[in-house]
Amino acid sequence: MRVVFLGPPGAGKGTQAKKLAARENIPQISTGDIIRDAIRSGSDLGREFKGYSERGELVPDELVVRLVATRLDAPDCSHGFILDGFPRTVPQAKALEQLLDERRQPLTGVVVFDVPDTEVVARLSGRRSCTKCGRIYHVVFDPPSSGSLCPSTGGACELMHRADDKPEVISERLRVYREQTAPLIAFYQAQGKLSQIDGSKSQSEVESALGRIVA
Ligand code: AP5
Repeated sequence: MRVVFLGPPGAGKGTQAKKLAARENIPQISTGDIIRDAIRSGSDLGREFKGYSERGELVPDELVVRLVATRLDAPDCSHGFILDGFPRTVPQAKALEQLLDERRQPLTGVVVFDVPDTEVVARLSGRRSCTKCGRIYHVVFDPPSSGSLCPSTGGACELMHRADDKPEVISERLRVYREQTAPLIAFYQAQGKLSQIDGSKSQSEVESALGRIVA
């Protein structure tokens, strides 16, 4: 399985990608997570990423494509992968096509998660995530059992609210999604690779629908 998850911020791509990756024993490649790890590391690249991420803008294509190219060469990608949040622009999609052609690993599908803006805002304002294990929670829809600590790490890690989940940044991310990422829907539809999913349903309903699509 070599799939791309597309959709607006907060659509549930990361939540579903983690479940599917664990079930299929393939990696979830989240460019957002890679970028946040680089920012946390304080590296020169991380400092460059920080401004883009905190403003809700996309990191330049060539930098993200380079990160993905390196990641796809890791041995754990040889049996498949889920690309979560990449590609995000038509140039990124074309670059991905070339990377996968070179590796003779064409995409097997692209899934777009449809979620209305009002739901996006509700989800992102209540999102909490663990910086250690990556588990994603929501204060209302999927609350952690131990308050502000991550139960999956035995309470060893404080849950965080992402810097780009502030209302003004969410609006910018939605604008960027519509302008730069939504055109990928037509791009992949034209290739006959696109499936759409109603991401506004409950996590378990979305998981079942996704299972039927990627099976
Ligand atoms: P990234 O981290 O990729 O953010 P995003 O695409 O905006 O998506 P999110 O992670 O916000 O949401 P999600 O769809 O994964 O939702 P989640 O499962 O967490 O990118 C961040 C930044 O990095 C970008 O702005 C950019 O700067 C940069 N970047 C990343 N990739 C890039 C690229 N390719 N090119 C250039 N720049 C790039 O769920 C959200 C919440 O909802 C959670 O609290 C969850 O518990 C809850 N939830 C999930 N499903 C449901 C459900 N069915 N019902 C109710 N609640 C639910």
